[in-house]
Amino acid sequence: MSFSDELLAWYDQNARELPWRGQADPYRVWLSEIMLQQTQTETVKGYYARFLDRFPTVAALAAAPEEEVLKLWEGLGYYSRARNLHAAARLVAGELGGRFPGDAASLRGLPGVGPYAANAIASIAYGEPVPALDGNQARVLSRVLAWESELRTPFDLLEPALGLISRERPGDYNQALMDLGATICTPRQPDCASCPVAGHCHASAEDAAQDFPRKPAPVPKREEDWTILLIRLQGRLLVRRRPKGLLGGLYEFAALEGHPGPDDLTARLAGLGFDTPRLIRPLPDAKHVFTHKVWRMKGWLAECDAAPEYFVPVDAAGLDALPFPFALRVYREIAEDLLRE
Ligand code: ADE
Repeated sequence: MSFSDELLAWYDQNARELPWRGQADPYRVWLSEIMLQQTQTETVKGYYARFLDRFPTVAALAAAPEEEVLKLWEGLGYYSRARNLHAAARLVAGELGGRFPGDAASLRGLPGVGPYAANAIASIAYGEPVPALDGNQARVLSRVLAWESELRTPFDLLEPALGLISRERPGDYNQALMDLGATICTPRQPDCASCPVAGHCHASAEDAAQDFPRKPAPVPKREEDWTILLIRLQGRLLVRRRPKGLLGGLYEFAALEGHPGPDDLTARLAGLGFDTPRLIRPLPDAKHVFTHKVWRMKGWLAECDAAPEYFVPVDAAGLDALPFPFALRVYREIAEDLLRE
């Protein structure tokens, strides 16, 4: 049996019973698909029933004040969905003479209907063989195909998905994939032993279902070398407020880019306006990993006779009161010890 036949045979026995199934009224299918886009199936059930109770037809929905629509939507979240729903209902009931657009391409002209929803609605309501490619279907298909490239969008799988979809029962096929993705081919622990299409699945054959879809390779982090200087001035240590940007508004010690040698360091400190800077001893190295970069830090204890005015000298209590980035915790602890000596 083909992939789709095997899947549909399973669906005929195991389909979840959901209130929007077993009918093909485009209004109801559209309403359910919009609700289901960002909300769990269980939650949607009650809202779907209440909505249809109050707005049994697209004309009833179009005639309602927006406020009432939003009120019935309350708790579903993503309220732009409700506003688009209402705008689409007015378009259908008004300009389109009460008839929903009759295929996926024209459904996409409705506010709030993207490529996924258009294909879901067209396949379920009209039997158009178009795949409802969302993250769930993409996960299942990337496993079936052992798809090696990383997916920028689920529609990267459009071509192979069109090759697999049932031409006789595309709506059931799409919903079968949704059920399979929700119950068996789940993100973390796919249950290949129970899967009706394991025999067609290239990832499962290699016992590698959980390795798909392929994730983007992590972006290499930029490495930056810094020299952190704890500079003493009359028994206190110099700190300054970081300017806007990374860790902006937090405090730091004097810091110079790179890992220069002692002579170079002293010269650069003098160039910055420190009066007679002297290095006392090296401090331990430290490293901090941010999301996008890594700081590799070398430390020095130093002293000077005067500092540029944007540096403030602090004692132990002053240091304690100021916010410092976690990235500098090693040097902050050393500074605390030094100030308590
Ligand atoms: N999620 C989105 N559309 C769905 C549908 N028709 N049935 C079950 N879950 C869904």
